[in-house]
Amino acid sequence: MRKRLFGRTGLEVTELGLGTWGLSGDGYGPVAEAEIDRVLSRAVELGVTLFDTADVYGDGAMERRLGAIVPSYARIVTKLGTDLAQTPPRKRFDAAYVREAFERSQERLGRDRVEVVLLHNPSAAALATGEGPGALKELKDAGRIRAWGVAAGSAAVARAAIEQGAGLVEIAYNAFCAKDLHAIANVVSTNGVAVLARSVLAHGLLAGHWSAEREFQPGDHRAERWTHADLARRIAQLDALRPLVTGSVSSLRAAALRFVLSNDLVTSAILGPRSVAQLEQLVREAGSGPPYLRDTALAELASRLRSAGVAL
Ligand SMILES: NC(=O)c1ccc[n+]([C@@H]2O[C@H](COP(=O)([O-])OP(=O)(O)OC[C@H]3O[C@@H](n4cnc5c(N)ncnc54)[C@H](OP(=O)(O)O)[C@@H]3O)[C@@H](O)[C@H]2O)c1
Repeated sequence: MRKRLFGRTGLEVTELGLGTWGLSGDGYGPVAEAEIDRVLSRAVELGVTLFDTADVYGDGAMERRLGAIVPSYARIVTKLGTDLAQTPPRKRFDAAYVREAFERSQERLGRDRVEVVLLHNPSAAALATGEGPGALKELKDAGRIRAWGVAAGSAAVARAAIEQGAGLVEIAYNAFCAKDLHAIANVVSTNGVAVLARSVLAHGLLAGHWSAEREFQPGDHRAERWTHADLARRIAQLDALRPLVTGSVSSLRAAALRFVLSNDLVTSAILGPRSVAQLEQLVREAGSGPPYLRDTALAELASRLRSAGVAL
């Protein structure tokens, strides 16, 4: 498994990371307990050394599973900032809450030092108070975490976090959603910030297997994300990616994943498989190294996406 520099940490991590939101059952509906553990173990066997989770995934269950299954040489990134004890759950990034949430995450992970902690989708206003970043900087100075950062819902939040010293940002990045990473490219490279690219398949859409009539089960976030008309439009836009499927790029899924890996700003593509079969497909189709896609095909992609109506 190929590795990339993990921002300013001085470490290397695999360019494919394993995300655990889909496995937790929270985002896409339930996954059998045994399959969750099989996916985690298989990722370890395949050589993955970066695992992404959050305190809220499975209400802490994913942190416990990762703590039990993932070897100590692998890096676990967790996120905090959602107070599930409130009804409805409330976002909190004040220093006291961040410190308490960190202690709970560390206990569940069972590690002496937590590798990376991210603030989980703070608003620009929450970040501007400086309290959450301040609490994480103190933990870093005390040697309890190696690095801190932000899972950002926008380029503005990612940029503000980097300006406050964040060493990592986790951000949506895929062929249909590239503008946020493009907007922060300069500040990312100037500051040596690690980028965890999530949603590389646009929640499954870019795998190219769906019909416009696809129904999503209750509890699957995609039921609220797209109307049938939206889905039909997005599926038609996949045609812009089809010329990438040639030679060793055997599927749209492979093209979508390799699009992300082709960007040198990306430290790791955080995969979201919900079964061992999906994990193995993704690892196999990532290919054997650069160039992930042909330069000419990549160069023509932007204009094809624009013509298809994808905002870049
Ligand atoms: N704000 C945040 O911090 C945040 C937000 C989102 C995600 N994340 C992290 O990023 C990870 C990935 O995000 P994501 O769920 O948006 O990722 P994604 O890869 O864009 O979407 C995951 C979905 O893609 C489909 N899929 C996965 N592997 C496949 C394969 N081999 N073939 C066909 N379809 C496949 C599955 O859909 P089906 O279930 O339909 O098969 C799966 O539910 C999460 O687990 C989490 O760790 C973080």
